[in-house]
Amino acid sequence: MRPMNSIIQEVRSEAPLVRTFRLDKQLDPAPGQYVMVWIRGVDEVPMSFSSPDTITVQSVGEATRALFNLGAGSSIGLRGPFGNGFVLRGKNILLVGGGVGTAPLAFLGEQARGAGINVTSLVGFCSSQDIIFQDRFEALGDLVITTDDGCVGIKGHVAEGLKEFDLTEFSQIYLCGPEVMMWDIISRTREHAGKIQACISRYFKCATGVCGSCCLDPEGVRVCVEGPVFMADRLIESEFGRYKRGPDGSKGQCRG
Ligand SMILES: Cc1cc2nc3c(=O)[nH]c(=O)nc-3n(C[C@H](O)[C@H](O)[C@H](O)COP(=O)(O)OP(=O)(O)OC[C@H]3O[C@@H](n4cnc5c(N)ncnc54)[C@H](O)[C@@H]3O)c2cc1C
Ligand code: FES
Repeated sequence: MRPMNSIIQEVRSEAPLVRTFRLDKQLDPAPGQYVMVWIRGVDEVPMSFSSPDTITVQSVGEATRALFNLGAGSSIGLRGPFGNGFVLRGKNILLVGGGVGTAPLAFLGEQARGAGINVTSLVGFCSSQDIIFQDRFEALGDLVITTDDGCVGIKGHVAEGLKEFDLTEFSQIYLCGPEVMMWDIISRTREHAGKIQACISRYFKCATGVCGSCCLDPEGVRVCVEGPVFMADRLIESEFGRYKRGPDGSKGQCRG
């Protein structure tokens, strides 16, 4: 699939290192699906949708920094939407997110509310200045925030906030954030893994299931097409939380 040209309509600052880009294309994505964003002359990188026509980007390296240099009226290339997305199940759901991983969950939560589903959110950030989409999550229903430094909400990592909830009350739990955070949540809630949908990341090149760059050991599941959303019980015996492969296929730590 060749990239289609898209003109950025608006850029919003959400936090010092996080910006939302509104696109001119109506791609009709499901929450949890992603788009490959081509920043010409630099790289093509995967980004989740934070609403039907926005992506929310954290500046971490060359491509995302180059994207931050683009304003309204600039053009980028897009391929997608790709991947499977979250599936809404039941009438009472919990969203659990960390950092920019809260972006697809805000989108999902809004879709769920529109369908009459009760939404509760647990979201974590490093510090108060890193908090994004607080108003969107507050509008959905009950919200618990954690910050690593305790500036806002519960002090500590996202898993600290789990103590506020009886997980048996939720029909489904939706998870997205840094891998270490997601693994922490999954390992503490193993008995609920059959109802946790986790949106994960691996190194994507083709995004069409051809190159094998994103395969998850030991099954060789292609995260770009069979994911990025997986039931957590499928991840427990996989490489998830243990290591992830980089651009050259070698194993590295799974911090991001
Ligand atoms: C399905 C999916 C959805 C994502 N959604 C978002 C999102 O909504 N917002 C957001 O800010 N980030 C998202 N990311 C992560 C984003 O793709 C990386 O932060 C981005 O590619 C970094 O590129 P860079 O050149 O700026 O940084 P680099 O310095 O090149 O890389 C920094 C880190 O980003 C990751 N990364 C780099 N290139 C890729 C790639 N092609 N595929 C996967 N990971 C890569 C690696 O872990 C790397 O260590 C998503 C990743 C995936 C796989
Ligand atoms: S990125 Fe090529 S197979 Fe998934």
